[in-house]
Amino acid sequence: MSDSSSGSPRLTRRPEWTALEDHRADTLQRPRLRELFAADPARAERYVVRVGDLRIDYSKHLVDDETLALLQELAAATDVFGLRDAMFRGEKINTTEDRAVLHTALRAPRDAVVEVDGENVVPQVHAVLDKMSDFAERVRSGAWTGHTGRRIKNVVNIGIGGSDLGPAMAYEALRTFTARELTFRFVSNVDGADLHEAVRDLDPAETLFIVASKTFTTIETITNATSARSWLLNGPGGLGEEKAVAKHFVALSTNAGKVTEFGIDPDNMFEFWDWVGGRYSFDSAIGLSLMIAIGPDRFRELLDGFHIVDEHFKTAPAEANAPLILGLLGIWYGNFFGAESHAVLPYSHYLSKFTAYLQQLDMESNGKSVDRDGHVVGWETGPVVWGTPGTNGQHAYYQLIHQGTRLIPADLIGFARPAGELSDELAAQHDLLMANLFAQGQALAFGKTADEVRAEGIPEEQVPHRTFQGNHPTTTILAKALTPSVLGQLIALYEHKVFVQGAIWNIDSFDQWGVELGKVLAKRVEPALTEGADVPGLDPSTTALVAAYRDLKEG
Ligand code: F6P
Repeated sequence: MSDSSSGSPRLTRRPEWTALEDHRADTLQRPRLRELFAADPARAERYVVRVGDLRIDYSKHLVDDETLALLQELAAATDVFGLRDAMFRGEKINTTEDRAVLHTALRAPRDAVVEVDGENVVPQVHAVLDKMSDFAERVRSGAWTGHTGRRIKNVVNIGIGGSDLGPAMAYEALRTFTARELTFRFVSNVDGADLHEAVRDLDPAETLFIVASKTFTTIETITNATSARSWLLNGPGGLGEEKAVAKHFVALSTNAGKVTEFGIDPDNMFEFWDWVGGRYSFDSAIGLSLMIAIGPDRFRELLDGFHIVDEHFKTAPAEANAPLILGLLGIWYGNFFGAESHAVLPYSHYLSKFTAYLQQLDMESNGKSVDRDGHVVGWETGPVVWGTPGTNGQHAYYQLIHQGTRLIPADLIGFARPAGELSDELAAQHDLLMANLFAQGQALAFGKTADEVRAEGIPEEQVPHRTFQGNHPTTTILAKALTPSVLGQLIALYEHKVFVQGAIWNIDSFDQWGVELGKVLAKRVEPALTEGADVPGLDPSTTALVAAYRDLKEG
């Protein structure tokens, strides 16, 4: 039976889905990772896919050749590659917003042709990149000066969500490539403390604000940008004259009208387009702060890294297509094992914000409960994504991954070489860091049996506590070093993995209506907090909370 307007059967009624359910039931009787490796040690080499500089090892997953074949059949039946091709062709696959989804065009080479509504968008992309490069070079060299003629020493990016997380994450990730003589800060929270802490030790005459907002209507960003302008003009050391804004504020946006209304010279606006989703935007003009930090050449290396994985996703056969394989493995656990979350655990201090970035990418994209045809889905969709750098996590929450009751698939990400600037002594710590990564992957997969614990002479009553069941799946992603290109490769890998899962779940991964309601309600509630205004339609619980807040505030 078909109950979808597209005429295809609902996902869970597809024979490829039920075949996976049967296979899953079967796996309860099947060997565990220990036995799978004992029977087939070659899986350590066979279940590896290489993309660009990334070596992606998925051998420690609860799969065998049959599982992988069944998952691939599901991908074929749901036409993942058909939707992929439509995306790359610029078709409006974001149907609820009637938009093309073309972040891949942001990293296309100059001579590529990518059309939206019959127009090749690649020349516009490169025109903006050239304008960004020119500006970034002028700031870096000191040719762009502030209103009083002083050199810019501080760059403050004001944005939120996709207009913050990407540049902030990549700035941390690529710190060793940044112009250390410049200070970079990222302000996102409407809590005034965020802007206060970002500017309290800065001199307005040496500070450039980059206001990053696709829509230029986001209340947090516009509020912070307005306060930043007041600080620039009237704060300690303020520049006084309104015309100072022209030298100290630039905008990154799709909305020229709102940028001008705010008072930023349109010449100082760096444009992008509605076919770039906010969470897919940091390789657009939204990356300007990063480009100033690492320089235009490094930024282009980053874009080239993205492009390597785009081409791989577009052309690699299904059985060697890394985003497809990772997406399918996530489906396997989320839909057939009841796994609710996915941990991303980088063994790199510089990737401290990487998982937070992926949270928006994955959860804002695939946190959906109706399918593309508007029907409530009858299957689980996006997982909770979480994690922090590896060794810190080991001394905090890894206990639950090892011995808790939940199945938590995890990605372990590491690099063969430490970041370039370390002293010999600190660089030597890198092997210890990576030993931890490998040890965790091993312990999670193979655990420790009760007999092994007993063999160590552990008293019998303690054996259950010291036994590790193992069989916890991990993907290990290795690269030589964390370079701009490698960072681009990693992000594109996750972008396309998220795409694959959304395609299989038949959801629109490119809208985000779920964040709208809270925004609308916040605007309605605010007058009740500031002026004690009566807000009609507030529910009793919120009314009581508002009253308590006002009492505490005034009492
Ligand atoms: O939270 C919703 C959202 O629209 C995100 O998708 C986006 O990245 C963020 O807000 C910021 O939006 P903008 O760049 O338009 O300020």
